[in-house]
Amino acid sequence: MATLLYITVNSKPEYLSTSKTVGRIFINKYKELHPDDIIEELDLYTDDIPRVNYKIFTSRATLVSGEDYEQLSDEEKNQANQIKQLCDQFLRADKYVIAAPMWNVFFPSMLKQYLDCIIQNGKVIEIDTKNNKVEGLLNDKKRKMIYIQSSGANIPFFLSTKMNHGTNYLHDIFKFLGISKFYKILVEGVDEKSTGKEKAIKHATEDIEDMIEFF
Ligand SMILES: Cc1cc2nc3c(=O)[nH]c(=O)nc-3n(C[C@H](O)[C@H](O)[C@H](O)COP(=O)(O)O)c2cc1C
Repeated sequence: MATLLYITVNSKPEYLSTSKTVGRIFINKYKELHPDDIIEELDLYTDDIPRVNYKIFTSRATLVSGEDYEQLSDEEKNQANQIKQLCDQFLRADKYVIAAPMWNVFFPSMLKQYLDCIIQNGKVIEIDTKNNKVEGLLNDKKRKMIYIQSSGANIPFFLSTKMNHGTNYLHDIFKFLGISKFYKILVEGVDEKSTGKEKAIKHATEDIEDMIEFF
């Protein structure tokens, strides 16, 4: 039995959001294939994601503890606790589905804020200051990730390296952290006349059919 963490990054309700609509199609199909798996959902807009600040991360990516924690205000303690819980939730999962729109050739900042919360020293990475080394720790079990990105434009393959910064970044960072399998579903041309939302969702649904069995 696996645990899947489904993360959305959009203030729109599902029926208006292309990325969330495709994300839900994926999750529903996944449930049909794996009825016993646990699915946790995290909405980075409605679930409060703290901003990392210097009192909470005492040194690089190291969550405050002990004496330093006791010195925090109640509000800061709450934020530190929340950040700990977000990281624990991420670690618990075996599979990840992230659905987000492309914003200015990247993903919305809430996702970066979330990643800055969960990529913690001693849990997700190991920072070896003596040897100046940082290592990912997520290769402790087989983890898989799928990134669903909706974009207004159809991005030609030859421009992908220049324009798909969000997808490329997520691929790189999760590989570094130790997640070996990274898949993507590009829901493209949502705002283009020649494609449009409906067609883009239809194409993405076909892609889901092709890859869901391997996920
Ligand atoms: C702030 C903002 C920035 C955007 N930047 C891009 C972009 O760089 N490239 C692109 O193709 N579409 C861009 N779009 C269009 C969205 O990616 C597109 O409408 C997407 O399908 C929306 O997905 P959603 O319905 O899940 O929000 C942008 C939209 C917004 C609101």
